[in-house]
Amino acid sequence: MDMQPIPAREGNHNLQDYQQKRKNFHWEEVKENFSWSKTGKVNAAYEAIDRHAEDPAKKDKVALIYSAPDREEKLTFNQLKNQSNQFANVLNKEGVQKGDRVFLFMPRSPEFYACFFGILKVGAIAGPLFEAFMEQAVRDRLEDSEASMLITTPELLERVPHNELPNLEKIVLVGDFTEASNKYVDYFKEMDQASEAFDIEWVDLEDGMLLHYTSGSTGKPKGVYHVHNAMIQHYATGDWVIDLKEDDIYWCTADPGWVTGTSYGIFAPWLHGVTNVIRGGRFTPDSWYETLDKQNVTVWYSAPTAFRKLVSAGADVVHKYDLSSLRHVMSVGEPLNPEVITWGVDAFKLRIHDTWWMTETGAMLIVNYPCMDIRPGSMGKPIPGVEAAIVDNEGNELPPNQMGNLAIKKGWPSMMRAIWKNPGKYESYFINGWYVSGDSAYMDEDGYFWFQGRLDDVINTSGERVGPFEVESKLIEHPAVAEAGVIGKPDPERGEIIKAFITLNEGYKASDELVEDIRQFVKTGLSAHAAPREIEVKETIPKTRSGKIMRRLLKSWELGLPTGDTSTLEE
Ligand code: WT7
Repeated sequence: MDMQPIPAREGNHNLQDYQQKRKNFHWEEVKENFSWSKTGKVNAAYEAIDRHAEDPAKKDKVALIYSAPDREEKLTFNQLKNQSNQFANVLNKEGVQKGDRVFLFMPRSPEFYACFFGILKVGAIAGPLFEAFMEQAVRDRLEDSEASMLITTPELLERVPHNELPNLEKIVLVGDFTEASNKYVDYFKEMDQASEAFDIEWVDLEDGMLLHYTSGSTGKPKGVYHVHNAMIQHYATGDWVIDLKEDDIYWCTADPGWVTGTSYGIFAPWLHGVTNVIRGGRFTPDSWYETLDKQNVTVWYSAPTAFRKLVSAGADVVHKYDLSSLRHVMSVGEPLNPEVITWGVDAFKLRIHDTWWMTETGAMLIVNYPCMDIRPGSMGKPIPGVEAAIVDNEGNELPPNQMGNLAIKKGWPSMMRAIWKNPGKYESYFINGWYVSGDSAYMDEDGYFWFQGRLDDVINTSGERVGPFEVESKLIEHPAVAEAGVIGKPDPERGEIIKAFITLNEGYKASDELVEDIRQFVKTGLSAHAAPREIEVKETIPKTRSGKIMRRLLKSWELGLPTGDTSTLEE
């Protein structure tokens, strides 16, 4: 689609600022904004919460507006400081130590955020899990991380196979429960008794803060390990890209089980002392517009899949609400369709700013600023302090307009520091000093980057990253399934949907009921977003001679494309 560039407006910085910064910038400059640059005492929880709570002018400012169909609540910076201190005391009492992994498996709630900062305050590593995960997904992550504690709700407890997790010593239950076990800790009871005073565990900038599990094309999900140093980039992009100002009401729609929900649902807004809206409950176009209207949201960070649903809901819905507070809108997770940008200009009289990054990168890398011309369909340009390029498979830079691997020069502040217990995997991301993202893209003559697709088999369905191997493994656990190959199939609303090809075991016959049963099996065993929307029963699944499923071939068949090199195909 051919579109005219949409003109820019000035945000916190103008274009000259960025041009200057691109030539002459060092991350050291950003460090001045943190209290540790003067005191030497580091902890991201302190910078995000306590620092504002200790400022008489900010102490009683609303930090968190929680809004769900059944609950509305506001917490000030001081309240969030006190509650996270209380929880840090609970953690101390239960013997949690610096470096321990403490996982959170619960819906968004004010308690979630008190727990999250409590974990950081004792120097432990937080592992947020998406509430929709089912048993297998929960087990894989707790097993790999050897978490010693889990915070969950009584309702979600049945999905936690705790007798099979030898490292899991304690389970904190947020809510009423009756079963007695010396493993269980009653959140509300312990919080009642805990002191609001706590001496924060000061850490090193390179100490662990977060583990986010994410999918690759092979193997189980991998633990992407982030350290406190990431706050430098969360802060900087909060200024440059999110364009945060003192009086903003900010809303990031992502769940903290995904990295967007921590880097930009927690750190960026609170490092800037900005009021942060957290919405619980399910997505509907009305409930989202209502949140923007009722909370007077000024800055909004969401995803193409949500925008596309709002587009389908039509103009009548938009016009029921007053969205005049909104000043700045951003998107991440999938390609942002030019049509959606056009719709945004129509619906909000605003541009939607695409941003590109990944779980592994910890923060935004390629973006559109408020002050730059947007080329609809482009992810934008690298932020200051970040060098991006298109490289070939040996890590050599390619000239403009040539497609290749989207790569980033190693060393930005929020870069993952490890893949948990898997140094070999970590090293495999880096070629010739470049972090190779797994995305293909090209750069035009003016330095704008254009996303083309994933180079591996990772599926992006409604902005959620799903590893085909995980789904295939679950499928073959079903008694009827012999073999499975899983691919992403293009879909106008969801970006991609998950399609599974399966063969059946002896004695089973293909039927609609069986296929539905298999779908439900993945949905209840793994998670709803990982359940294949389409399942096709085949006689055989193409494999290489070494037994690897040829997903690429399945995909070519599905899309009616040429099949390319099939020389490794098994007879
Ligand atoms: C993958 C990373 C951390 C952000 C949430 C997703 C795709 C991300 C864009 C974009 C096109 C995008 C890429 C990337 N992606 N942003 N602006 N345009 N594709 O994080 O789950 O780690 O997934 O999402 O393929 O590699 P994630």
